[in-house]
Amino acid sequence: MKKKKKQIQKDSVKIREIVSKYRGESGALMPVLQAAQEAFGYLPEHVLQAISKELKIPLSNIYGVVTFYAQFHLKRRGKNIVRCCLGTACYVKGAKEIIGSIKSELKLKPGEDTTPDYRFTLEIARCIGTCFLAPVIMINNDYYGNLSTNKVPGVLSLYR
Ligand code: FES
Repeated sequence: MKKKKKQIQKDSVKIREIVSKYRGESGALMPVLQAAQEAFGYLPEHVLQAISKELKIPLSNIYGVVTFYAQFHLKRRGKNIVRCCLGTACYVKGAKEIIGSIKSELKLKPGEDTTPDYRFTLEIARCIGTCFLAPVIMINNDYYGNLSTNKVPGVLSLYR
């Protein structure tokens, strides 16, 4: 508990530092949120509260912005982001089976998208612009195309 309180205080100092770069600027919220996410990896509630206090913007307005833009994340994500394409070209070439294989390889339970060790987060995309590689996934900035379920363990093992 004490450790958590200390962390929150430390994070508030960081937020003050971030906000000081944008204070007085109109439209400071977006760059502050982006910088905070960059610093913390995601936007936990205590960070949003600190931003609300520093920028004097109601917390509900901040939540409105954070939940509107897909670039912001309220939950801690894994070190490696596995983006699986479920667009039409990938779907017809077996993307659903690939996703099933990834989920089972990462031992993700129903409703989970991040492994308990925060090594991987699985995201579903609608087309990642490389349909000629279908079925395709991205891990961080790397593309893996013409995938099959039996290639999935080898690809994931590169990031373990
Ligand atoms: S549909 Fe999968 S990359 Fe376009």
